[in-house]
Amino acid sequence: MATLRTVLPVWALAAIAAAVPAPEPVPHPMITPAPERRALDPGSYINSVISNIGSGVSSYVASGVPQFFQDFPTGDAVESSLGINNDDLKATPTQVLNIPGYGNWTNDGWNVRVHGNVFKQPNISQDDVDDLANKFLIGTDIQDLPEDQQNQARNLTRSIFVVQQEDLNVTINFENDVSVEPDASGGVINAEGGAQTIQLPYKTTDQGDFDTFVVLANTTGPNGGHLIAGNATSSIQSLNMYANGTNTGNATAYLVPPEGLTIISDIDDILRITKIYDPKEGLLNSFARAFTPWENMPEIYANWSASIPDFHFHYLTTTPEQVTRNYMEFIYKTYPLGSFDTRPLNFSDVSATLSIRRFLLDKIFQTFPQRKFVLMGDTTNSDVMKAYPALAKDYPGQVQCIFLRNTSATDSTDLFPYDTSGFEGLDQKQYMFFIHANDLTNLDVVGGNCYNATIPQNVTFGYQGYGFGNSASSRAFGGSSATALIIAWFSLAVLLF
Ligand SMILES: *[C@@H]1O[C@H](CO)[C@@H](O)[C@H](O)[C@H]1NC(C)=O
Ligand SMILES: *[C@@H]1O[C@H](CO)[C@@H](O)[C@H](O)[C@H]1NC(C)=O
Ligand SMILES: *[C@@H]1O[C@H](CO)[C@@H](O)[C@H](O)[C@H]1NC(C)=O
Ligand SMILES: *[C@@H]1O[C@H](CO)[C@@H](O)[C@H](O)[C@H]1NC(C)=O
Ligand SMILES: *[C@@H]1O[C@H](CO)[C@@H](O)[C@H](O)[C@H]1NC(C)=O
Ligand SMILES: *[C@@H]1O[C@H](CO)[C@@H](O)[C@H](O)[C@H]1NC(C)=O
Ligand SMILES: *[C@@H]1O[C@H](CO)[C@@H](O)[C@H](O)[C@H]1NC(C)=O
Ligand SMILES: *[C@@H]1O[C@H](CO)[C@@H](O)[C@H](O)[C@H]1NC(C)=O
Ligand SMILES: *[C@@H]1O[C@H](CO)[C@@H](O)[C@H](O)[C@H]1NC(C)=O
Ligand SMILES: *[C@@H]1O[C@H](CO)[C@@H](O)[C@H](O)[C@H]1NC(C)=O
Ligand SMILES: *[C@@H]1O[C@H](CO)[C@@H](O)[C@H](O)[C@H]1NC(C)=O
Ligand SMILES: *[C@@H]1O[C@H](CO)[C@@H](O)[C@H](O)[C@H]1NC(C)=O
Repeated sequence: MATLRTVLPVWALAAIAAAVPAPEPVPHPMITPAPERRALDPGSYINSVISNIGSGVSSYVASGVPQFFQDFPTGDAVESSLGINNDDLKATPTQVLNIPGYGNWTNDGWNVRVHGNVFKQPNISQDDVDDLANKFLIGTDIQDLPEDQQNQARNLTRSIFVVQQEDLNVTINFENDVSVEPDASGGVINAEGGAQTIQLPYKTTDQGDFDTFVVLANTTGPNGGHLIAGNATSSIQSLNMYANGTNTGNATAYLVPPEGLTIISDIDDILRITKIYDPKEGLLNSFARAFTPWENMPEIYANWSASIPDFHFHYLTTTPEQVTRNYMEFIYKTYPLGSFDTRPLNFSDVSATLSIRRFLLDKIFQTFPQRKFVLMGDTTNSDVMKAYPALAKDYPGQVQCIFLRNTSATDSTDLFPYDTSGFEGLDQKQYMFFIHANDLTNLDVVGGNCYNATIPQNVTFGYQGYGFGNSASSRAFGGSSATALIIAWFSLAVLLF
């Protein structure tokens, strides 16, 4: 057991320790008295609370990724801590996580992003898997969950405890045989040519990742079909891409023309119910319960897919790569088809965690300098709150709409403050904070009228949320609601550490 614990994230160790009554109370930086109230700026106060608590909460707040989804062990750490025999591991099949990518049109032809991870899954006994799963399910024993939730928890735990494979060549077979359901996938059509095999120009990284663009040759398909040039179509062409040598690495590539509309959508607390701001619920929603859509977002997306011409869907979450399959499986059975981004394994330290979303957003904006983007997220993620309005300023004319679900408006357990200062100077037509999914119905997204005038915005261009109030009059930091917020922060910190 001691060896298992060495691979668990810090928060889990601390939570386990916290469950054991401490002999005597130990002073802790978290309970340092609040700074002088009068001169208090909520932003700097929160930052100081965050830095006192430590990096864990800071990245939790930053990326909206459940804290329990941070700091998974990788590679050697998994192998040595689980006492895995090298020969046993050698005998297990190599698997490939191939993440659906986008491609842009260039002077050389279609240029397609291929990204994912190569790994082996050790054969861990069910007892050991249950022990590991219990570490994630703080306060709940896997045996006490309904059977479907037990299976989900075991599945996720096995997905996390994998051994990534470095320094390998990856070969991708492209095939033009995707069967696309017309209504489920907007402007996506099957490519009529383009089948070919390409060895990626780089080997897998130390963490087993691959992420590169490759240029497709214009090969002839069945019946003399071809890939359509990007400047001769507005449709998105899809090709299957299989990692050679395994049947675990199947994905779809989306060839997206230079002009048109792309939606970049976050997933947690906007497309599914996660409640990352409520750690106990967040844990169960992420590790055990089946993923559940939030309100009628599936209908909103289906309508957009059907009504907005050639709408490209790109799902961008900063959840760690190890759990990508579960996210993709949920998205593709619930929402329109599209390309995907999750957090690559080399972004693991705190400063990298804080920059990952912007890194992935810049990559897609720079790949499609003439497309316009609809950005979807929620107020819980401070990196979204910062990056989305910044993109509107950094890529003039490319941000069509920013939609942000105000999670604290519908959920009184959400005590996370959010910073709206980035929105100062943006045209209200360009963005909307909304409360229910239905607030998005019948909006003229194509015309760039992204604000539903029936939804009061209350934007103060500063820190807002429960405890700071939604209106300008309660903008000042103080009063009993502020105290409630501080208490909430501390309870959260206690849960996490
Ligand atoms: C389309 O792009 C190709 C490659 O960049 C170029 O050779 C061709 O002239 C373009 N056609 C049109 C109609 O712009
Ligand atoms: C995994 O290990 C168990 C015994 O520990 C063995 O019975 C089973 O066959 C193994 N499974 C695979 C796929 O190797
Ligand atoms: C977990 O479930 C998904 C979806 O059913 C499946 O694709 C994946 O192989 C499973 N992973 C493990 C490690 O069992
Ligand atoms: C990987 O690819 C390179 C370049 O094609 C080749 O020289 C090398 O032998 C390959 N390595 C393996 C292990 O297949
Ligand atoms: C491929 O070649 C065909 C036939 O020459 C041409 O019609 C088509 O535009 C080309 N497609 C691309 C992607 O270059
Ligand atoms: C593809 O995989 C097969 C079987 O694993 C292997 O024999 C073949 O050499 C691979 N092809 C390439 C181009 O890597
Ligand atoms: C992946 O694609 C290959 C080639 O079409 C197919 O043989 C295999 O069954 C597919 N694997 C899965 C898991 O769908
Ligand atoms: C992670 O790797 C990608 C290439 O796969 C690279 O562009 C990026 O800068 C790396 N990020 C960090 C934080 O090392
Ligand atoms: C295509 O995407 C690549 C990779 O992001 C980018 O460097 C290049 O400028 C893009 N090309 C065009 C024509 O937009
Ligand atoms: C605005 O929001 C209301 C309330 O959710 C909804 O009934 C209406 O359809 C939305 N759209 C427009 C354009 O008013
Ligand atoms: C979706 O579109 C249908 C048909 O146009 C319409 O009846 C329905 O109200 C729309 N629903 C939403 C949520 O936009
Ligand atoms: C604006 O404030 C009102 C009144 O407090 C509240 O009901 C509503 O949810 C707020 N709007 C948003 C988008 O949060």
